[in-house]
Amino acid sequence: MNGRTSDARDSGREGLPSHIPGTVTPREPLGEILKGQKALVTGGTSGIGRAVALALAEAGADVAVNHLSDSEAVAEVVDALEAAGATALSVQGDVSSEEDVERMISESCDALGTIDILVNNAGIQKDARFADMTLDEWNDVIGVNLTGQFLCARAAVREFLAHGDRTEVCAAAGKIIGISSVHDVIPWAGHVNYAASKGGAQLMMKSIAQELAPYRIRVNSVAPGAIRTPINEQAWRDRDDYEELVRLIPAGRIGEAEDVARAVVWLASDHADYVTGATLYVDGGMQLYPGFSEAG
Ligand code: BGC
Repeated sequence: MNGRTSDARDSGREGLPSHIPGTVTPREPLGEILKGQKALVTGGTSGIGRAVALALAEAGADVAVNHLSDSEAVAEVVDALEAAGATALSVQGDVSSEEDVERMISESCDALGTIDILVNNAGIQKDARFADMTLDEWNDVIGVNLTGQFLCARAAVREFLAHGDRTEVCAAAGKIIGISSVHDVIPWAGHVNYAASKGGAQLMMKSIAQELAPYRIRVNSVAPGAIRTPINEQAWRDRDDYEELVRLIPAGRIGEAEDVARAVVWLASDHADYVTGATLYVDGGMQLYPGFSEAG
C-alpha cells in the first residue's frame, strides 16, 4: 500500500525499561485515508498528542501542532511531519485562554486554508488528596482539560459551519475528537479534579454531538487507559509499579501512544462517517472492572 510514512509508527525499544513489551507494530500502514484534510492537534509536542499528529500526517492530513511553551519540542514534531510529506506548522497558545484559542484557530486556517479535524488532546494532571486539593489545582485542571476542550471545539465548530460541506475531501463538514480517559467513567481517588474534568468532557462531547449532527459535524472521544507517556511515568518506570499497574489491565500490557493515534485516525476518517457521540476506549480493557475477573 502506498502512503506517507512515519518513523513514529514503531517507536521501537529505545529508552524502554526491559519489563515493558513495547509498541505493537501494525501489520498495515494507515493508508492515505485523510488525504487533503487539515487538522489541528492541541498539546502536540509529546506523548499521545505527538503520536496523533504523526499518524494524521501519515494518513495524508496537513497538521497544525499546538504547544504551550516548548518551541524546541514542537519544532522537532513539525520537522517529523514535514519529513512524512505533510504541510505542518506550530501554533503557540494556552487552550484555557479564549484569546489564545481564537488566535490558534485563525493561524491554523491562514496557513492550511481551513481545518477539518480538531483533536482536543491538551491535558494536565495536578494530583492531590481531596482534603488537601487547592482551588488552583482544581481550576488549572478544569481550565485545560474541560474549558480548553470547550474553547477549541467552539472555535473549530464556527470554522466548520463557515466552510460547510467539503465533499471534495471528506464526507463530514468537520470532525472533533476529544482525548478523554478511562477516568471519564472510573472514579479516581487522589485525582478528583482530573476525573471531574474528563467526566465533564464526556457529556460535553455528547451534547455537542447531538446539537451538531444535523450539520454533518461529528464529535467523538477516544478514552485512553494507561498509556506509556510522561504524564504517568511514575506508574511504569519501575518494574514493581508496572506490575501493579498491569493488574488493572486485562490485556496485560501498558498501551503505547500509537495505539491511541490509530483510533483517532479511524474516527477522523470517512470510515467512521456514521459515528458521532461515541467514546472509544483504548485501554486494553481497563474499564471492564478487572477486579471482578476472579472475584464477586
Ligand atoms: C491518566 C494516566 C493514568 C491512566 C489510567 C489517564 O487518563 O492520564 O495518568 O495512568 O489514566 O489510570
